Amino acid sequence: MLVEKNVPLQFYNSFGIVAKALALVRVRDEADIAQLLADPALKALPKFVLGGGSNIVLTGDVKPLVLKVEIMGKRLHSQTDKAWIVEAGAGENWHELVAWTLQNGYPGLENLALIPGTVGASPVQNIGAYGVELQDRFESLDAIDLTTGQSFTLSAAQCAFGYRDSVFKHKSAAADAAAVAGHPGFGLADKALITRVRFALPKNWKLVLGYADIDKKMAQSGVLSPSGLPTALQIYEWVCDIRRAKLPDPQVIGNAGSFFKNPTVSAEQCADIIQREPKIVHYRLADGSVKLAAGWLIDACGWKGKTIGNAGVYDRQALVLVNRGGRSNPVTGGEVMTLAKSIQTSVYERFGILLEHEPVVV
Ligand code: EPU
Repeated sequence: MLVEKNVPLQFYNSFGIVAKALALVRVRDEADIAQLLADPALKALPKFVLGGGSNIVLTGDVKPLVLKVEIMGKRLHSQTDKAWIVEAGAGENWHELVAWTLQNGYPGLENLALIPGTVGASPVQNIGAYGVELQDRFESLDAIDLTTGQSFTLSAAQCAFGYRDSVFKHKSAAADAAAVAGHPGFGLADKALITRVRFALPKNWKLVLGYADIDKKMAQSGVLSPSGLPTALQIYEWVCDIRRAKLPDPQVIGNAGSFFKNPTVSAEQCADIIQREPKIVHYRLADGSVKLAAGWLIDACGWKGKTIGNAGVYDRQALVLVNRGGRSNPVTGGEVMTLAKSIQTSVYERFGILLEHEPVVV
């Protein structure tokens, strides 16, 4: 185990923000953690777990010890009557795992194709797209407690998944606030490192439709399987096409995916907003509340395509903030957050809704 000093992080975060890790350790297996925790000085340091860096905004050099997760491996772990259990190392690239499962005949992750980031980060924010969330396919995960070095396994219930949320996004100091917000009241952010994740991929696979963009692709497509329904591979290809058309590739234009969560309001609040804004895009949820499209709210405030400093609002999807300075003159975390705050202010002034940002600000 090597402690690297002053490591540039520009290529380790999908915005391409320039910052350094004052100290960084690459974690390739559980033994690396054991070694790290055996050193009293390293054990005592605050730690920051870095996956693919696709959901973070770096606002300066990172002072906690950065643990860069590079635990690899993909395999069929086991199977039950109902599901194939596939296990992947936390350092594996998410999209490559999705492609691998489909190539090997284990469908179920196709709607989640092309989401940037690593396998280990996928449960942290409970990634989701086109009607499927990670929690729908999750079996369990292994993690290591960074204080004690103990390994443990968590079930879905123990991960406390919510919309772009889990126990790994909450700090334990915020337990009281989290409990008020309906969270179980404990947090594992920077206290645990996810090493492996297992997915339950259904043998009785059923396609998940009902999302406008996918339904449109299906209507346009003449190529369907003999059953008249698309295969998992077709859905995978459609999802890749839709994402490539709407979302910027972080290799080309730095970004962290959706920058804000879609807000939920009560039916009464929604009725009130609809009176003022009849065109507002909204989806009724089973519990009676209503989810609003944050991208539409931001777009309606005129932000699409706008730029402040080197931070911009993507011109094909207003929910995505981008690095307009490329690699040579990259956006700073401060510029991203200034733009984010300006957007929050205009959406609040017009709609009375406070947008919550999705990436972790470091
Ligand atoms: N819209 C606009 N203008 C915009 C953007 C969106 O009017 O600039 C409207 C669209 O026309 C549509 C609605 O808003 O009617 C929703 O847009 P879209 O279908 O693109 O989805 P989204 O709600 O903006 C969410 C996820 C994405 C995920 C897609 C597809 C969040 C925060 N975002 O976006 O996730 O890929 O649905 O399921 O929930 C991510 O988290 O990084 C991400 C990309």
